[in-house]
Amino acid sequence: MAASKPVIIAPSVLASNFAALGQEIADVHRAGADWIHLDVMDGQFVPNLTFGAPVIQAARSSCDAYFDAHLMIETPDALLADFAKAGVQGITVHVEACPHLDRTLGYIRELGCKAGVALNPATPLDTIQHCLDRLDLVLVMTVNPGFGGQRFIDAMLPKIQQAAAMIEGRDIQLQVDGGITAETAPKVIAAGANNLVAGSAIFGASQGYAQAIKAIRG
Ligand code: DX5
Ligand code: ZN
Repeated sequence: MAASKPVIIAPSVLASNFAALGQEIADVHRAGADWIHLDVMDGQFVPNLTFGAPVIQAARSSCDAYFDAHLMIETPDALLADFAKAGVQGITVHVEACPHLDRTLGYIRELGCKAGVALNPATPLDTIQHCLDRLDLVLVMTVNPGFGGQRFIDAMLPKIQQAAAMIEGRDIQLQVDGGITAETAPKVIAAGANNLVAGSAIFGASQGYAQAIKAIRG
């Protein structure tokens, strides 16, 4: 099934130079990025730590792109308002970290943000079936979250197809994240994803950000 929505490329700043984060965001946006993907990790939900709302707020002035926060954190509810205040447009939580998922998604929308839910590779899609009316984005993880530069898990392609069928006819983005390159991008787009996160394939590209984004967009 081909994607009917426009393809959105969301570079993950996890692979960028954190010492110059604002400049990196401005540069990648100018190079053609549609969204900026911000990986927030708490050292609990995933075995790595990155940054939180204060750093995002500091980076906010670098450009006016859509800021897409991917929260890989336990019990996110108490922190959602901080991310909204920091200026993100979208907040994605993990279904595995949200015992009351529909309530959490409701909070995100009440804060004026788009509500997303992410699923680890092992998590089945039926865990989010009851929340489709509260969702603006479904993120099918194509690696186990926590680190950039991992290998794309091919076994996620049927899951992407199932997710596409599940949200068909709804205004919901189908995002993929992990191991997205110019080689894997056509496969996920063919499976029905329209929103592609890529970290190392963009920020680690030798040919420059604009070329790398173009290669992934196809
Ligand atoms: C993984 C993160 C990803 C990561 C992707 O836990 O959610 O956004 O930065 O990195 P690449 O594109 O290098 O796999
Ligand atoms: Zn991510």
